[in-house]
Amino acid sequence: MDLKEIEKLNKKFEGAEPLDVIKWAIEHFGTDLIFSNSMGAEDQVLTDMIVKTNDTIEIFTLDTGRVFPETYNLIDKTNEFYNIKIKTYFPNYKDVEDMVAAKGVNLFYHSVENRKLCCHIRKIEPLKRAFSGRKAWISGLRREQSVTRKNVQLIEWDAANGLVKINPLINWSEQEVWDYITVNHVPYHALHDEGYPSIGCQPCTRAVKSGEDVRAGRWWWENPEHKECGLHVQEDLKSDISIGVKKMNS
Ligand code: ADX
Ligand code: SF4
Repeated sequence: MDLKEIEKLNKKFEGAEPLDVIKWAIEHFGTDLIFSNSMGAEDQVLTDMIVKTNDTIEIFTLDTGRVFPETYNLIDKTNEFYNIKIKTYFPNYKDVEDMVAAKGVNLFYHSVENRKLCCHIRKIEPLKRAFSGRKAWISGLRREQSVTRKNVQLIEWDAANGLVKINPLINWSEQEVWDYITVNHVPYHALHDEGYPSIGCQPCTRAVKSGEDVRAGRWWWENPEHKECGLHVQEDLKSDISIGVKKMNS
């Protein structure tokens, strides 16, 4: 699929319902399509929609080894509720061991570079394995979520991974996500009721105060412009990650 085709599709699906976009994606890519589920609210909505198409695509989650106990509970609950099997990808143990030996178990608090290195080893490398041999992925990004996401397109070329990326919920508000969850009785993460609108790894996520940005609790000690882990990469993030990997190996 080239950039022109992607542009045409974005026009065609302007204002379309997320479920229609998902149905098209499954029809077009078949089992070359994969859904990356963080177990957050948006992704649980997408899981519900995917299950409702009655087609099977791989739904996977990245277990960084540092996620909340509530996240594991939700994986089990979701599998049971929909009678599915969410596949779990783990980081390469040797990379984790070397990183912790070189920089300590909580390295991410010491620099942005360290934080991106940890995200690279615990999330990006397993993500690349999950993507191997696939052509497209579904993600739960919404434009409203943060400054780093305001230019996200419904369908994009993900150059970092060499795949088409489909974001069916880009135009949804937080309210629309929660209305869908309520109406459809979608199982959701217990921490959403404790003031956590966006949930990642336990040491890098905190609750937000009322009025704060929904992603304010993620890597809260960092500048908002840097708050992406590399899963949704812009070109400017790549160099920081490779510097971190090189330094660790030197
Ligand atoms: S993150 O990149 O900062 O962690 P966020 O939590 O907002 O992202 O999730 C955005 C999208 O990234 C999700 O909809 C999902 O597609 C993907 N994602 C994030 N974390 C994971 C994870 N642990 N496992 C699978 N997919 C994930
Ligand atoms: Fe490591 Fe924190 Fe990134 Fe999780 S979010 S992979 S613990 S730096």
